[in-house]
Amino acid sequence: MLQNESVILRGDMIRCALCKDAPCDAACEKLKPSGLLRSVWFDNEQGAALRLSEDNPCRDCDAPCERACVRPGEVPVRRLLGRLYGEVRPMAETPLPQNEDRLKCDLCGIALENPFLLSSSVVASTYDMCARAFEAGWAGACFKTVSSLDIHEASPRFSAVRDSGGGIMGFKNIEQLSDHSVAENMEIFRRLKAKYPSKRILASIMGQNEAEWGTLSRLCEENGADAVELNFSCPNMAEGGLGSDIGQVPELVERFTAAAKRACHIPVLAKLTPNVASMSPAAEAAKRGGADGIAAINTIKSVTTVNLHTFVSAPAVRGHSAVGGYSGNAVKPIALRFIAEMAQNPALAGLHLSAMGGVETWRDALEFILLGGGSIQVTTAVMQYGYRIIEDLKQGLNLYLSEKGFSGVGEAVGLGLDALHATTDALERDTVVFPRFHRESCVGCGRCEIACADGGHQAIRLNEARRPVLDGKRCVGCHLCALVCPQRAITPGRKRVALRSQPSI
Ligand SMILES: Cc1cc2nc3c(=O)[nH]c(=O)nc-3n(C[C@H](O)[C@H](O)[C@H](O)COP(=O)(O)O)c2cc1C
Repeated sequence: MLQNESVILRGDMIRCALCKDAPCDAACEKLKPSGLLRSVWFDNEQGAALRLSEDNPCRDCDAPCERACVRPGEVPVRRLLGRLYGEVRPMAETPLPQNEDRLKCDLCGIALENPFLLSSSVVASTYDMCARAFEAGWAGACFKTVSSLDIHEASPRFSAVRDSGGGIMGFKNIEQLSDHSVAENMEIFRRLKAKYPSKRILASIMGQNEAEWGTLSRLCEENGADAVELNFSCPNMAEGGLGSDIGQVPELVERFTAAAKRACHIPVLAKLTPNVASMSPAAEAAKRGGADGIAAINTIKSVTTVNLHTFVSAPAVRGHSAVGGYSGNAVKPIALRFIAEMAQNPALAGLHLSAMGGVETWRDALEFILLGGGSIQVTTAVMQYGYRIIEDLKQGLNLYLSEKGFSGVGEAVGLGLDALHATTDALERDTVVFPRFHRESCVGCGRCEIACADGGHQAIRLNEARRPVLDGKRCVGCHLCALVCPQRAITPGRKRVALRSQPSI
């Protein structure tokens, strides 16, 4: 049974470096531990468990994999694989699907092998890169934005906000557009189309005026693109009315979308900026201009990491920095909100939503699908982990769809929309859900008590055995304790319906 959260937490294997040509694989005669560990990392532990043979070869093994590790002894490979055998595999109810038919879907009428595309960025900027991504299993690529501008990038051009394990949680870039000429990019499209006819090429373009939006769309179609994505949203090209400035002005979105539509016959998507309070005005303008779909989100304007000695934020380019675009897993909640906003807007009915912003795992992707995303695009996770993440994206989603009895990914699109409200006013407020403490996994750290005392309602005390005891009269059911518990040993428990007294008139 697929859990709402992983049984094995990423924290259990945080020291795994997710190596290329992993030494643990070379040391093991029976398994390829690196692929299994990667599946655990990317929330596809059930897929990993189902790929294992019946017998656990690790049981009588003295773990040469752990000694061969680039961090010898720091990654509990044997214990993790033992948990896949002992805890995850017995709970799996569905066998691994035999094919990927359930993943087939479409983007504005164009058939996709699966919903996963590279989003427009450095990860899809050359023939070789796209070819390797296609071979790895991506359904297509939205190519790095093509323009006639002369692009000279700054160095360095990225910075990262890290999580407590050292991984990249948020990512800032000050990169602009493709630095190949239009002609060079068109040649790449032709070669990709010839070699990979079943893969999809979305051509991201940025024009400087109506005529150029039209010319670029036409050229992309003539050279093999399956769809055009209009970049109205690059925060690093905002001067002179380009980039995200266009996405903030619905009249320009409508005008330039109409220009692109007039010039080509393939589907046109408008890629919109999250640097607005609501995406609907620009999305509705794109629809008026004839757009077939919306792609969102592009990156969020941001400043990261001010150096405390030089006083310059990152990335520092010869002593100066600039506001740049934020992406990666940290932006997912913001991206989900924009996708849901558009999916719930009746004025946008019928538009394809190509969703992106922080997708790393199949669970991330599924959240976008449940909120209306018809296809999924990815950049930052690929920059961090490589094209290989497609294996767990596809297998995890396929397994979920199979277990839920869906015959295709399209059946899941938008299923989360009815239960999502734009404001909190719509929510029932009379039920209190108390926390349930799982004593077998509690280690007695007292973090729940601290959080409740200083950030809650002073409803938890620790007993002599350092285990939490709840004062039901004080508890308001906020669940801060469950969120801070490092053991995940607190879950929703008993409910109490406390009808509010009627206000006196
Ligand atoms: C280094 C970098 C370069 C990017 N270049 C472009 C671009 O040329 N055109 C574009 O439309 N979006 C560009 N993006 C935005 C991504 O396509 C995507 O919208 C955004 O990063 C959110 O997805 P993610 O969290 O999966 O990265 C770029 C993003 C990054 C990180």
